[in-house]
Amino acid sequence: MKTVKPFAERLVRWQRTQGRHDLPWQANRDPYRVWLSEIMLQQTQVSTVMAYFDRFLQNFPTVHALAAASQDEVLGLWSGLGYYSRARNLHRCAQAVVQEHGGLFPRSFEVLQTLPGIGPSTAAAIASLCFEERVAILDGNVKRVLTRFLGFGDDLSLGAHERKLWAHAQSLLPVKPADMPTYTQGIMDLGATVCTPRKPQCEACPMASLCAAKALGAPEAFPVKTRKIRRTSESLWFLLAVSRQGEVLLQQRPQQGIWAGLYCLPVFESEEALRLALPPKAQTQLVAAPAFKHVLTHKDLHLHPCVVRPASSSTQWPSGEWVNANAWPALGLPAPVRSLLLAHAT
Ligand code: ADE
Repeated sequence: MKTVKPFAERLVRWQRTQGRHDLPWQANRDPYRVWLSEIMLQQTQVSTVMAYFDRFLQNFPTVHALAAASQDEVLGLWSGLGYYSRARNLHRCAQAVVQEHGGLFPRSFEVLQTLPGIGPSTAAAIASLCFEERVAILDGNVKRVLTRFLGFGDDLSLGAHERKLWAHAQSLLPVKPADMPTYTQGIMDLGATVCTPRKPQCEACPMASLCAAKALGAPEAFPVKTRKIRRTSESLWFLLAVSRQGEVLLQQRPQQGIWAGLYCLPVFESEEALRLALPPKAQTQLVAAPAFKHVLTHKDLHLHPCVVRPASSSTQWPSGEWVNANAWPALGLPAPVRSLLLAHAT
């Protein structure tokens, strides 16, 4: 493997002068804050996470407060961040920390990984940022920085190649544990601000003179990842029933599958199925709102909202809860459902 003392030294020096220092989760090394931010940042940009992070901390200042909350409260505050399994695992993790670890986050990479929602890279982030453990993170940003620096051309679609890259990542770490927090933050900062997916700013990079991909003149050729996720698409019909009093009919989604645990408009697989679920009078009052596309990780959803404004409540509506306009904004709602309610029920 490449000798790389200069890598860690340069990175730590660069982080001190050019890295980010005022992100809200950098205020101290409290593992609760670091864990919360790392989970939020997994699939979401820093600029979006900021406001959610502050709101979460205001509502749940400690891991005990989060553990004691209801799942509905947690999903409600998470609403809009997407990837809701993160929120459900976050809640379970808080409960496990309280029930199994006396309310203190475990201090080691090994034990952190036993908690819900904490995989190897998140465990490494917490262990290195909070407890100075010499363990390497390997999220998307870091894979890009390291494959470019090393000229690592093996296809990361294969687990064996990813493990090999991780071994390289371990060998690049600073020798002194006290440098680990700065190093870990630095490699994330470098990936986010300089060594970007497109048009990396090599002229601003502290590694430029050592970087294999730059020497090859092809930084954007790394990382190599051939397997693409196979996308599918699906059409769904939403029943948007709004009562005279402004209540909307919502159903809580099952704990498995798309939008698990969130509150949603009743969903149907065809307009016909939706129509048949309504009281006869309402069937004649149905109005189709414009269809639109909502993109999920593995799937494009083509959503067809059908609006009905019943004059009287009847027992023949699909099961669910009629929720008033003061209550639904605080519920955990899929983003397209929230937009539809804002457009048609306010
Ligand atoms: N992405 C993941 N973790 C991060 C952190 N600590 N700071 C900035 N971006 C991140």
